[in-house]
Amino acid sequence: MDRITINSSYANKFLDSNVLESNISKSEKSLIEIETGSGRGNDFTGWLNTPYSDEYLEIIDVAKNFRERFDTIIIVGIGGSYLGSRAIISSLTDTFKKSQPEIIYAGNNLCEQYHCELLQYIDDKNFAVIVISKSGTTTEPAIAFRLLKEKIEKKYGKADAASRIIAITDKSKGALKKTADSEGYKTFVIPDDVGGRFSVLTPVGLLPIALAGLDIFEILKGAQEIDNHTTSAIQYDRNIVLQYASIRSALYQQGKKIEILLSYNPKMYFLIEWWKQLYGESEGKEGKGLFPAGLINTTDLHSMGQYVQDGERILFETVLSFERGSAGIVIEKNEDNLDGLNYLENKTIFEINKKAEEGTLMAHLDGNVPNIVISIPENNEFYLGQLIFFFEKACAVSGYNLSVNPFDQPGVEMYKSNMFKLLGKP
Ligand code: PA5
Repeated sequence: MDRITINSSYANKFLDSNVLESNISKSEKSLIEIETGSGRGNDFTGWLNTPYSDEYLEIIDVAKNFRERFDTIIIVGIGGSYLGSRAIISSLTDTFKKSQPEIIYAGNNLCEQYHCELLQYIDDKNFAVIVISKSGTTTEPAIAFRLLKEKIEKKYGKADAASRIIAITDKSKGALKKTADSEGYKTFVIPDDVGGRFSVLTPVGLLPIALAGLDIFEILKGAQEIDNHTTSAIQYDRNIVLQYASIRSALYQQGKKIEILLSYNPKMYFLIEWWKQLYGESEGKEGKGLFPAGLINTTDLHSMGQYVQDGERILFETVLSFERGSAGIVIEKNEDNLDGLNYLENKTIFEINKKAEEGTLMAHLDGNVPNIVISIPENNEFYLGQLIFFFEKACAVSGYNLSVNPFDQPGVEMYKSNMFKLLGKP
């Protein structure tokens, strides 16, 4: 079976071999700590089992029912409770055609205008709501859900409304669980030992993805495939988790403070957003950690490209590179050739984009920007499942390499306590 691979040849000349060697040893040790549950935050390593959950059959059933009954489904959640599903859904659904049912998102901001427009937009829709919050108390989704609950109950009556709402939350704690029990909503549980940003392969990610009509079984199969080929028994030269974690940790130690994850496929925008959250919240603590940034090329070559080529040499890039395209749009010969593009005759857009990627890699190498290339055979559920689990595992290893707990997020509490004080929360 094909798998994603890593090409480090565009990073090698920047790596001090002693620093790399010591980071390979660290990564090997970190991976064993993760597998044996002996590292920091070990009560949050339940995500290691998520590719093997058998809950997907129930999820597929529930999704089928909702897909038949509703034209619009609103996914309410923030951070780890929505970015993973949005990443997969936007990677694999049509950019222009409205999906059926249409999937929209709420609870990921506190913008009044957004909520006002959302409430107006769903006025004449036959809609359902999936509300996702592990703690069940996060302000943004709680406010959005309060508004949507009022709307749905007003429109359909309490009993019908309850059959249009699914809550994904803790098994016993939190305001959302309390509401779900008292109103009789269908619920799915987020396991205690799985943190938000590691929860894509639980109902948090899988239900919305199945509601969008995508194949969650293939995603899980992809995750299993990567899991089996990245255990601590597999040596560095064949283990992409050890490779990615070791190279990025070594580059960080050698003064590269920013990692840019980029793709030449704009459908990867939310996957990069998901990765930013996963790595930013997991590593950025105790005054340490690579700053995760994201770019979409070739779009951003016309904006941030200047900085990457020529600005402060504190960054490296990781490229999500697809091996195969799918559409096959060919540039045809034009008799007049007024635009001068006949030199591209018979080339597909995919091939042209690939040349932009290769040309940029060479230019950035000359500009002293190390590059790690993650090769993905194709954009589909199986390979995205691989990518998700690969990034989760490599994130945990990288966090342990830094000696931080990759599974907590004490820093996000500061703004909340200030905001609550300012709002007079009892
Ligand atoms: O990764 C995390 O833990 C966070 O990003 C959470 O997912 C986010 O804060 C939402 O939390 P909750 O699911 O409790 O509403």
